Amino acid sequence: MLHEKLKAFPNDFLWGAASAAYQVEGAWNIDGKGVSNWDKFVRIPGKTFKGTNGDVAVDHYHRYKEDIALMAEMGLKTYRFSVAWSRIYPDGQGEVNQKGLDFYNQLIDELIKYSIEPIVTIYHWDLPQALQDKYGGWESREIIEDFKNYSITLFKEFGDRVKYWVSLNEQNVFTKSGYQTAMHPPGVKDDKLFYQVNHHANLANAAAIKAFRKYVPNGMIGPSFAYIPTYAATSKPEDVLAAENAEEFINYWWMDVYAWGKYPKTIWEYLDEKGIAPKVQENDFKLLKEGKPDFMGVNYYQTTTYEKNPIDGVTMEGNFNTTGKKGTLEDTGVPGLFKTVKNEHLEKTNWDWNIDPQGLRIGLRRITNRYGLPILISENGLGEYDTVNEDGTVHDDYRIEYLKTHLKAIQEAMTDGVEMIGYCVWSFTDLLSWLNGFQKRYGFVYVNQHEEGEHDLRRIKKKSFYWYKDVIESNGENL
Ligand code: BG6
Repeated sequence: MLHEKLKAFPNDFLWGAASAAYQVEGAWNIDGKGVSNWDKFVRIPGKTFKGTNGDVAVDHYHRYKEDIALMAEMGLKTYRFSVAWSRIYPDGQGEVNQKGLDFYNQLIDELIKYSIEPIVTIYHWDLPQALQDKYGGWESREIIEDFKNYSITLFKEFGDRVKYWVSLNEQNVFTKSGYQTAMHPPGVKDDKLFYQVNHHANLANAAAIKAFRKYVPNGMIGPSFAYIPTYAATSKPEDVLAAENAEEFINYWWMDVYAWGKYPKTIWEYLDEKGIAPKVQENDFKLLKEGKPDFMGVNYYQTTTYEKNPIDGVTMEGNFNTTGKKGTLEDTGVPGLFKTVKNEHLEKTNWDWNIDPQGLRIGLRRITNRYGLPILISENGLGEYDTVNEDGTVHDDYRIEYLKTHLKAIQEAMTDGVEMIGYCVWSFTDLLSWLNGFQKRYGFVYVNQHEEGEHDLRRIKKKSFYWYKDVIESNGENL
């Protein structure tokens, strides 16, 4: 669709930025916090880039006032952050740690002081290690009750001031990386378990959303899904079918459950045939249907292009670029279903992520047409190398270009009829990129933190900081 005139951004559009506890807070063992799965995983040699960890991260735990003052200077309307479960319940269940609650209460109050709307993510991957040790974490149905209780604690404590909530962040990524590629904790490769773990996460998500209605009746809640819209490599029907397979397997398998409380039929048949469909209990689908979200949270970074993969074709074993050496990403696939291929029409980042603003518009339209839910872009941004010049400036024009083109695509999507709640750029300050260390940077604010060498954690506003400030001030008119 080509439009002569684009719709304006709504006046209450939430111009925002996002982060996650493990990636910014640091203070990993302070004020009663328990050990998380990531605190443990990063200590295994070879798991992260140059062995980086979040022990200090960017020290947001101690510097949150300084960071929020910068958000206020920028005019940010919303800040999405996550709560570390192990700060609230050091063992994942049992006794509440009051100091953990205090920290987030102070953070929320500080945001409100500057009229910045807090968006709380309940779970952004840092599981209390005690639950992994006790019953395998997401591998057991016991997690459903513990996650629900933890969520209720947050609803009761913060629900008077927090309207917007994200339940699970990127369930598709933390389960795939934890149970298919073994790149995240608990570092397992087991397809059957992967689907089982997902079923438990779906139930936990639904149980938390169902409880939310009671504790925060006027709030809005939804999961954040890592949506990677699919393209077919060619118009050959077998490639189109491969892309359809991928859309169902890597996207609808999750989003259908969130929105409708049921799994896509063709995939269920396939998994059942292979003996890896999840075991379900009576009433599971009742709960899934009772826990429907108010919006779809979308974390968008790129699209992927697919072609036919023969029955003896490539597997998921290909190299994933965590070094920033362009061209080192390898194609992967599921034999008999689909295989990724390079899209010659798209530029890539140094970490081999496709840059595709129109893909965002396509994805937003697919969600709107399929589910009819409003959308919160809970993450979108560019991870790149940044350099501080001798005069102390950071000229990240490539980031401005990335964000500008994605925002234009959102405006086009809104003109197409997509209902948008807001847009959270990943990220506000630089932060720890789970597997890629501190060299892959996303922030509007540079943080002097590195794998090696001098790092005093000082904050430096990048050029994109001033650009986004101007975009917010003009409510998107100065794009
Ligand atoms: C999302 C996550 O997958 O993408 C974030 O929710 C993450 O936590 C972001 O940092 C960017 O990914 P990466 O691997 O470049 O840090």
